[in-house]
Amino acid sequence: MKKIIAILLCLTCIVSLVACNSGTANSSSTAAPAPTATPEPTTEPTPAPTEAPTPTAEPTAEPTQEPTPEPASEGGKTLVVYYSASGNTGRVAQAIANTTGGDTFELIPVTPYTDEDLDWTADGSRVNQEHDDESLRDIALESTTVDNWAEYDTVYVGYPIWWGIAAWPVNSFIKSNDFTGKTVIPFCTSSSSGLGESGQLLADMAGTGDWQEGQRFQSSVSDEDVAAWVSSLG
Ligand SMILES: Cc1cc2nc3c(=O)[nH]c(=O)nc-3n(C[C@H](O)[C@H](O)[C@H](O)COP(=O)(O)O)c2cc1C
Repeated sequence: MKKIIAILLCLTCIVSLVACNSGTANSSSTAAPAPTATPEPTTEPTPAPTEAPTPTAEPTAEPTQEPTPEPASEGGKTLVVYYSASGNTGRVAQAIANTTGGDTFELIPVTPYTDEDLDWTADGSRVNQEHDDESLRDIALESTTVDNWAEYDTVYVGYPIWWGIAAWPVNSFIKSNDFTGKTVIPFCTSSSSGLGESGQLLADMAGTGDWQEGQRFQSSVSDEDVAAWVSSLG
């Protein structure tokens, strides 16, 4: 009888132990929860280095301002300055202006020459007196000042030939103006004389400007011939 009781007790212990082990296994065998995603770090991201960025070069911006205008003296305008006692040189001057698109500036003596004044065949006429006495050739003009003079870079200077040289009423204009930077082209009309030294004498009188050789025209030259000469200058 004692043996039976001991066996029963042993069986009871074994059953109990099995029961205990079985509970522990269940808890450990329970499926583990799905791994949660690694949480984002809650700390603020390390700020970027605060050192000053290397300065970038200034962009090579296109200039926004208008280009500086050329000086007025390089404007390419043409002026035809002339003295004409009886109209021949005036016609040539106008033909030059028409061909070049230039402006004209007439030299007008304060005391204009009358027909009697111009009569070189009459002793004691005004032109004869002036011819014989050079000190009388300083002829006052109504104006020697050209508006916007600096804008002209080509200046034609026209005159009749008197005793082989430029009629002296042009002299005070030549002396009164600065031709620096200008191309100066003399031209004249005459009955038969050539240009002679007339242009060179005016160039010497001016002392400034790039004086060209120039051209002599017959008193009755046609506008077409004048235009052809102007065109030949390029
Ligand atoms: C006082 C005087 C002197 C002149 N001397 C000359 C001269 O030496 N040689 C010549 O060929 N013509 C001479 N002439 C003629 C003029 O040069 C010519 O008629 C000229 O075309 C006149 O131009 P104008 O009408 O613009 O004044 C002279 C005319 C005058 C009034």
